Amino acid sequence: MTRVTGRPQSRFVCQACAESFLRWEGQCRACGAWNTLVETVVHEPARRKAAPSGSRQLDEPTALGAVHEPAVPRQAIGIGELDRVLGGGLVRGSLVLVGGEPGIGKSTLLLQVAAGIATAGGGSVLYATGEESAAQVRLRAARLGLLGGAPAEGIRVVAEAEVGRIMEIARFERPGLVVVDSIQTATVDELDGPAGSVGQVRESALRLMDLAKGEGIAVVLVGHVTKDGSLAGPKTLEHLVDTVLSIEGERFAALRLVRASKNRFGSTEEVGVFEMGERGLAEVADPARAFLAEHDGPAPGSVIAPTLEGSRPILVEVQALVAPGAVGSPRRTASGVDPNRVALLIAVLGRRAGIGLASHDVYLNLAGGLTVGEPGLDLPIAIALASSLRDRPVHDRTVAIGEVGLLGELRPVSGLERRLREAARLGFDRAIVPRATRDASWTPPVGMEVIAVGSLGEAVERALVAAPARVATASARC
Ligand code: TYD
Ligand code: MG
Repeated sequence: MTRVTGRPQSRFVCQACAESFLRWEGQCRACGAWNTLVETVVHEPARRKAAPSGSRQLDEPTALGAVHEPAVPRQAIGIGELDRVLGGGLVRGSLVLVGGEPGIGKSTLLLQVAAGIATAGGGSVLYATGEESAAQVRLRAARLGLLGGAPAEGIRVVAEAEVGRIMEIARFERPGLVVVDSIQTATVDELDGPAGSVGQVRESALRLMDLAKGEGIAVVLVGHVTKDGSLAGPKTLEHLVDTVLSIEGERFAALRLVRASKNRFGSTEEVGVFEMGERGLAEVADPARAFLAEHDGPAPGSVIAPTLEGSRPILVEVQALVAPGAVGSPRRTASGVDPNRVALLIAVLGRRAGIGLASHDVYLNLAGGLTVGEPGLDLPIAIALASSLRDRPVHDRTVAIGEVGLLGELRPVSGLERRLREAARLGFDRAIVPRATRDASWTPPVGMEVIAVGSLGEAVERALVAAPARVATASARC
């Protein structure tokens, strides 16, 4: 590593012990770890030049109280749902990673972002695409109605994947925003590895970070998400960037959720809700009800949960289908919720509430393609399972929320008042909640009957209608 030569070259550096080698090998000869060698550029003087602008003051330590508050110059994009997730707009000089599965709408969103910045007077936008040709980007722009006015003028498209050249163009054009679509196609000339390899992705991202910090330009990287849900390429990318946004949703359903899983310049709790339509992503007018499925009436296996995404209540329908399964190996399928959590709830239902599902196939789904991680979804999931098994629907206009413990006890959720107020606004007038509440003083919404229950068994009994489902409803669901 210490040998410095005039021309840039690469080494293969072990990510476990930092030893470097001239050639790639499957196993590190120093520490014995497998598949840890990553191609890395050595001797890179440019990076030192582009140190953050405050570095001159680092010579002398400053008393914490006397440290200046950082100025965070933001440029609002003009897409309310996205500005909200970012904490008020794109921060100048920040590096943002936008992740999502192929086809979810990353390029579409970023072209709309580019148009927003150009329209809002945030400077021009350099859109570097390594995935498509400039003509293909134009086709998409035509579909989005962006071939006139400020976007047509202000968005500068280049079909280029080599980071050095992208940076050169950016330094010349001085745009307000650079979009790199995608980081998996980006390469640097000094490395031998193919686009998308760990070394290429990381070095490209590092250089683009220099561009962002050094020139004060916001840089957005598009990243494809692999099947297991992680951002493809090295995990280190997530540590490197300032903000990680992910676009979620089912590819063949219209709703899209934009979430910040990391944000150095704002909260990570906010979500933005969009709908993919004929003209790109449109903001959803009433996100709280966006994920509610339309029904003719109550159906067994369906429960409405007032979830909280950051500060925003979103009502979501939990759907369960329980059917007698093959002996020995029942199927368990869950989408939108953690399958391990569902397995745990099935066990708790069996042991603590006498609702045995051990020999049943279980299918669980959140309507609208939403993914919810909060534990408050436990109770609605459990009720949905019981409802389907017993073929008894949940009472009409009823919501349920609460965490379930291993003993079948119920634990409170945060923000109950806000959740129920939103449910009441959307016409629900009955709520099943844990008896213990986290907020000491809270007032249930006017006209809402709040049923505080102490155990899972009690919750199920209070939630389901007493009589067996009518034949017509039952057969319609089965
Ligand atoms: P795209 O942004 O290319 O996805 P990604 O960059 O994440 O791979 O968009 C993918 C899908 O969105 C594609 O199947 C077409 C659809 N789409 C619309 O439905 N409406 C539109 O206006 C646009 C531009 C795309
Ligand atoms: Mg794309």
